[in-house]
Amino acid sequence: MDKLVTIERHIQDTQKQHPHATGTFTKMLQDIALAAKLISRETNRAGLTDILGATQSSNSSGERQQKLDMFADDIIFRMNDHTGRVAAMVSEEHDDLIEIPVEFDTGNYVLLYDPLDGSSNIDVNVSVGTIFAIHRKFTKGEKGTIEDVLQEGKRLVAAGYVIYGSSTMMVYTTGQGVHGFTLDLGVGEFILSHPNIRIPDTAQYYSTNHGIEKHWTEGVRRFTHELQGLDGTGEPLKQRYIGSMVADFHRNLLKGGIFYYPGTLENRQKPYGKIRLMYEAQAMAFINEQAGGYASDGIGNILNIRPHTLHQRTPIYMGNIDLVQRAEQLIQEHDKEWMALYREYRNRELVV
Ligand code: F6P
Repeated sequence: MDKLVTIERHIQDTQKQHPHATGTFTKMLQDIALAAKLISRETNRAGLTDILGATQSSNSSGERQQKLDMFADDIIFRMNDHTGRVAAMVSEEHDDLIEIPVEFDTGNYVLLYDPLDGSSNIDVNVSVGTIFAIHRKFTKGEKGTIEDVLQEGKRLVAAGYVIYGSSTMMVYTTGQGVHGFTLDLGVGEFILSHPNIRIPDTAQYYSTNHGIEKHWTEGVRRFTHELQGLDGTGEPLKQRYIGSMVADFHRNLLKGGIFYYPGTLENRQKPYGKIRLMYEAQAMAFINEQAGGYASDGIGNILNIRPHTLHQRTPIYMGNIDLVQRAEQLIQEHDKEWMALYREYRNRELVV
């Protein structure tokens, strides 16, 4: 009979492969799993309670916050503020670096998270997700600094997401493959259901917001035509777009495909698309790479981008390697003007 592996056991077993591990990191992942269970419970109840609807305040990106966003944000913060494992946090819902309250000890890691990604979908009972990323603190001193959180994606020590869908799943990587766990509501445990996820070699889906096609650059348009088979070279892929990146990514990870949210020239001051680098793109790019895929901003590997601001945005193309590389090629060939503008943003220096 197959062994039953809870997320706790899996994290502990992985830790055993690192003889010098102190267990701190293991406990941090367990804290996140518990936060995920609490958020899952509330998202499932969202239709029944008074929790639906938007509040008046707006978050760092100027979007209206849903009440559930704030609940999820608070849960993740409170689960990690007092453990002595975390030195600072970054959340989509906070403009600035989140410090650990003075009464608590700080630790060796920094946590970046999007508490509820795709939250405009809550009101209509469509899947949403939580994204998290963990970097090791490298600066001296007790407090986590802006340099600690603004590290390149290739230096991540762990990342994952939780999808609140027809069932709740947590998918994570510590750089040793990607593993998925399904929440058994009866016992409240995440059980290993998808060990060693690998993106299938053959893509089935492409996912992008066609509504903004009129703003796309020539390279992106040509790329999409190829995916649709309109250039006469192949069979079309199926198009699916939920509007929750976690959900779109999760489907493509299991079935093969590409998710993209391009940068455009619609506003020349903002050639960088929509997705946030530090708590959305880096985590997904890391997971995607660990599953055998590739994630690019159209110019190069997202994991190599040197961040300059907490709420930095990035264009994103992620999924099967061949598709992402083809997007890069067409952008390179046709979108020189966009590349020059975006490069100026991408290469900005971090000012402390
Ligand atoms: O970045 C937040 C997010 O909600 C993603 O989860 C999603 O993929 C995207 O925005 C949807 O954006 P749009 O509504 O512009 O397609």
